[in-house]
Amino acid sequence: MKRYSRITGTGSYVPPRRLSNADLVAELAAKGVETSDEWIVERTGIRARHFVDDGVYSSDLALEACKGALQAAGVEAKDIDLIIVATSTPDMVFPSTACILQNKLGANGGAAFDVQAVCSGFVYALTVADAMIQTGAANKALVVGAEVFSRLLDFSDRTTCVLFGDGAGAVVLEASDTPGILASDLHADGKHVGILCVPGHVSNGHILGDPLLKMDGQAVFKLAVGVLESAARAALAKAGKTEADIDWLIPHQANIRIMQSTAKKLKLPMDKVVVTVDQHGNTSAASIPLALDAAVRAGQVKPGQTLMLEGVGGGFTWGAVLLTL
Ligand code: ACO
Repeated sequence: MKRYSRITGTGSYVPPRRLSNADLVAELAAKGVETSDEWIVERTGIRARHFVDDGVYSSDLALEACKGALQAAGVEAKDIDLIIVATSTPDMVFPSTACILQNKLGANGGAAFDVQAVCSGFVYALTVADAMIQTGAANKALVVGAEVFSRLLDFSDRTTCVLFGDGAGAVVLEASDTPGILASDLHADGKHVGILCVPGHVSNGHILGDPLLKMDGQAVFKLAVGVLESAARAALAKAGKTEADIDWLIPHQANIRIMQSTAKKLKLPMDKVVVTVDQHGNTSAASIPLALDAAVRAGQVKPGQTLMLEGVGGGFTWGAVLLTL
């Protein structure tokens, strides 16, 4: 009998320090950086984001999200045999945030590693975990997106610092006789490295190059809208489905205008799109599982429904996962 993988529980966590646009505008004004609630809402749809305090790391956010996902799935941490963390803000250069998380969870012994595909990280990680479950390399996985992007922001650059937030989301993915994950479609095009990057690196005890986020927002916007449509169509074709089969589109939460354009291209009304960017900002690899968990817990997204998850981000990377919950 063919093995499939299926999401059996979701969880998420955002740190308690919430900054509304008004809070952030006031903090930036004190540093001589001018922006406004109107500009941020109109251009991005963002109204608030959460930032970690000093001493809190991606693994800490991931731990809370995983506790929620395990509880929802009715699975104990000791039974997890695979942990994949999608993050661009790991706790350390090495070991992986997944290994640190594994120890905090008390899930020691299974495979654990990180995936680095920036804002596409969660769909990349979910695809890898699905493949490992299908081949029998794993039975019960935690797939996590966790980020502390506030640590990468240049708070003198108003074109980027208003866009991002911190958080984590997680799913338990288990082997199943019936399909959960129906199809995936992943891509990258490394010629676009420069349009969205944190170019610094550690070398001989120093940071060489700029360790803060750089983005050509308009270039990212144009690429994002095109590739989100093509990845969704490719995943639908692989599964023998059409747009009409999608109950919910859960795209990477970067900008409401990118989501609106993608929904329009896929002929989906906005009431079939899960939107949390207003409350979380762009949490990179965490944004899709955060949005999924919020929608599940709100009773919007229900078991048996067909979901299209879509990520896009630095690399340039993009991808889609079509699944039945
Ligand atoms: N407050 C006020 N004014 C601002 C701000 C701000 N925070 N930021 C920029 N402006 C000004 C600019 O200086 C410019 O002023 P000018 O016309 O006098 O020169 C004006 O607003 C317009 O700037 P644009 O960059 O043209 O604004 P645009 O409409 O393109 O919106 C944005 C910018 C929101 C960044 C948009 O391009 C976007 O969302 N791009 C995609 C970003 C994205 O999705 N990134 C995440 C990818 S995922 C990942 O991998 C991390």
